[in-house]
Amino acid sequence: MNQKNVSIVILAAGKGSRMKSTTPKVLHSICGKPMLYHIVKEAKKISDDVTIVIAYQKERVKETMESLFANLNYIEQDAENFPGTGGALKSYIPKHDEVLVLNGDMPLVTAKSMERFFACKSDIVMSVFDLENPDGYGRVVIENGEVCYIVEQKDASEKELMVSTVNAGVYAFKKEILLTYVPRLSNDNAQKEYYLTDIIKLAKADGHSISALLVDEEHFKGVNSKKDLAEAEEIMCKRIRDYWMQQGVKMELPATIYIDSDVLFEGECTVEQGCKIVGTSIIKNSHIKAHSVVESSEVIDSDIGPLAHIRPSSKLEKTHIGNFVEVKKSSLYGVKAGHLSYLGDAEIDEGTNIGAGTITCNYDGINKYKTKIGKNVFIGSDSQLIAPVTIEDDVMVAAGTTVPSGTIKSGVLAISRAKLRTIEGFFNKFFEKAKKKS
Ligand code: UD1
Ligand code: CA
Repeated sequence: MNQKNVSIVILAAGKGSRMKSTTPKVLHSICGKPMLYHIVKEAKKISDDVTIVIAYQKERVKETMESLFANLNYIEQDAENFPGTGGALKSYIPKHDEVLVLNGDMPLVTAKSMERFFACKSDIVMSVFDLENPDGYGRVVIENGEVCYIVEQKDASEKELMVSTVNAGVYAFKKEILLTYVPRLSNDNAQKEYYLTDIIKLAKADGHSISALLVDEEHFKGVNSKKDLAEAEEIMCKRIRDYWMQQGVKMELPATIYIDSDVLFEGECTVEQGCKIVGTSIIKNSHIKAHSVVESSEVIDSDIGPLAHIRPSSKLEKTHIGNFVEVKKSSLYGVKAGHLSYLGDAEIDEGTNIGAGTITCNYDGINKYKTKIGKNVFIGSDSQLIAPVTIEDDVMVAAGTTVPSGTIKSGVLAISRAKLRTIEGFFNKFFEKAKKKS
């Protein structure tokens, strides 16, 4: 996609009260990234002049976006004196002659869907969709095929509320139109806000050409509540899954699988039902079995799960991880850990078997310590490895052993086990006594 001579401005200054949250609306995340991230990522594909309008929690929004992108412009809205989507553009001066205005709460918009706006040559191109339930959106009043005006839900008459054609909230303006009409907007409405949507009737009265582009909710859905957020995430997540399936990833019951936008797959992979793969995970030639969670980790030539939890900064290569195994910040190469273990802050080498119920005791309540296990080590079931601890190559640790901090030298058997006592006749004596009592 080529960069075009267009400016894009994204309105992100509002509080988003309907989200009922202390987080600014545009920072609520979808598939692991703030809504605003998804929009900017697409906007940057077609424009070298992307501006974000901020006001509510402006430092937080700006810091978040600066950590994700370079070369963004920010302008601050005087939201106290000029609230509303029109007020947001009061001090905006675009670099190019054609300007696309986007709302910061429409995370599903793509570069391709933005480009359509520049194909129409009207002075204003606005976006509409037809909805069975238009609740919350501004209604677009069209007469004889021409857009007349947009009325916000809170200002609409009974008759206007019946209109099912709504304003999707994206507009392409000629720069001159914005510079002429934004200063003329008034706040004479139910919310006492400067509505950007009023530009339509002002420009129309002066004879400017306005066209309406029919768009779909799948790309232009606005997020105003947590319910909308969940619905938008479902659409985004499906998009991500479809993409990876097209790239050759096999998915079982894909609708139950959650994958973040930054996850990468390589080679031939299978993901079974109910898995969650998030953050900056990389999955290569691996099989992730049902209901496993992988967070910001690398999984290479391995199989994980069912019901395994791979926590951030882990690297698993040629490794088998079975059910109820939790791995955190550990690197495992050529390892088998089949059942019920916690492996944290560990480095484990080739040919090593981790028995069921093994626990790396990596935390003493204040600090975290490392566990190093060499090659061809056999850790018996129900062992505790008290970090910092090193187990050299070719060691056997007997089942039920507590390995204290220090080093276990190569070639040994490590065993710590209380001696077993048996008491003759105990069973019958115990239950006979108990029976007499009752
Ligand atoms: C807006 C449109 C409505 C349309 C809908 C589509 C107006 C007046 N209404 O309504 O016709 O159907 O979008 O989704 O434009 N914002 C600011 N500064 C503000 C207020 C809002 O930057 O003072 C930003 C918000 O952060 C948000 C975007 O503008 O990202 C839209 O604001 P919102 O309050 O959600 O507008 P809607 O009521 O949905
Ligand atoms: Ca909205």
